[in-house]
Amino acid sequence: MRTRPLKVVLLGCGVVGSEVARIMTTHADDLTQRIGAPVELAGVAVRRPSKVREGIDPSLITTDATALLKRGDIDIAIEVIGGIEPARTLITTAFEHGISVVSANKALLAQDGAALHAAAEQHGRDLYYEAAVAGAIPLVRPMRESLAGDKINRVMGIVNGTTNFILDKMDSTGAGYQEALDEATALGYAEADPTADVEGYDAAAKAAILAGIAFHTRVRLDDVYREGMTEVSAADFASAKRMGCTIKLLAILERAADGESVTARVHPAMIPLSHPLASVREAYNAVFVEAEAAGRLMFYGPGAGGAPTASAVLGDLVAVARNKLAEATGPGESAYTQLPVSPMGDVVTRYHISLDVADKPGVLAQVATTFAEHGVSIDTVRQQGKDGEASLVVVTHRAADAALSGTVEALRKLDTVRGVASIMRVEGE
Ligand code: HSE
Repeated sequence: MRTRPLKVVLLGCGVVGSEVARIMTTHADDLTQRIGAPVELAGVAVRRPSKVREGIDPSLITTDATALLKRGDIDIAIEVIGGIEPARTLITTAFEHGISVVSANKALLAQDGAALHAAAEQHGRDLYYEAAVAGAIPLVRPMRESLAGDKINRVMGIVNGTTNFILDKMDSTGAGYQEALDEATALGYAEADPTADVEGYDAAAKAAILAGIAFHTRVRLDDVYREGMTEVSAADFASAKRMGCTIKLLAILERAADGESVTARVHPAMIPLSHPLASVREAYNAVFVEAEAAGRLMFYGPGAGGAPTASAVLGDLVAVARNKLAEATGPGESAYTQLPVSPMGDVVTRYHISLDVADKPGVLAQVATTFAEHGVSIDTVRQQGKDGEASLVVVTHRAADAALSGTVEALRKLDTVRGVASIMRVEGE
């Protein structure tokens, strides 16, 4: 056992950072045994030094993160600032000074993961980021390491707890989107500005990271097709129920059948109640991975929150500290397949389309012809008439997203179609 401690600095000390510091202190003896050397919190870089931080020695607090990284005796930096800058510059500075990095920063990894991995490799250091995707759920390491000998073909997951809480409320109470969002805000699940969650940006960043790992290729945030869930209505849930489905905001990553390309997307979708993801309630996350040899795996747990996210950070800290003692590094970026990311139009799936139409002879035939003209095959049609108007719900067989978009555009131009009330993909069948 080495007695000289490994020196660790925290970059950022918000909800996650303060939990990391707390667990490092309370579990110090266990961490020492597991790593083979003590880990010492040697500095904490913050923006607001006057804030009271219980359990943290005030002499460790500094506003000069760069000076902390340059002082020459630091082994590992834990970045829990979030966002692009100053996190990116600080992580790069850490590598330049021989410091390995544990990060929880999904936005930065989704945008600049390749450059950060390259910097880590150039300086022979580690970059670990289990906490960047789905909080406490072990997912990055199982996909990067445990499944390194298998071939992942599909990943489908609920990777945003806030939106899952809102959708679960709508499903279980019949509430509309705004009412469910208000409850999520009151309970602290949704932030004052919920845009990143409800518009799918948070999930898209996680999707980009997972797609890169799953398919050994580079997938950037801009490659991920994204639709938020603000348009999902109580009527959509009623329709989903009639089909034996619920609605989830899903991140879906697929390898094309010919293996030559991949797709990455985030959008709300109906899934059958029998699918394991349908039973993921409240703010929980779950990710369903389909691999060639392993078959279907599901990873489930808390995807956010101080302590759960700190658990993932500390797991990485132990791994990186062990590597450091062994004078080794863990796995870096694996992007050797260089598969292109296909546009959303190439994605093939099923659709649930709800139309408001005139209730008169020939309308159904006209609508069916429009689907046929675009090569989209109809699976089921349900019509409910009322006062000369009708609501028509069409569920299609599998079709390309581009064909579906063309169909909807043409439907909107029909005089007899008063409006397209909703379009939702149907997944997981
Ligand atoms: N805001 C995210 C969520 C947690 O609701 O899941 C951090 O990624």
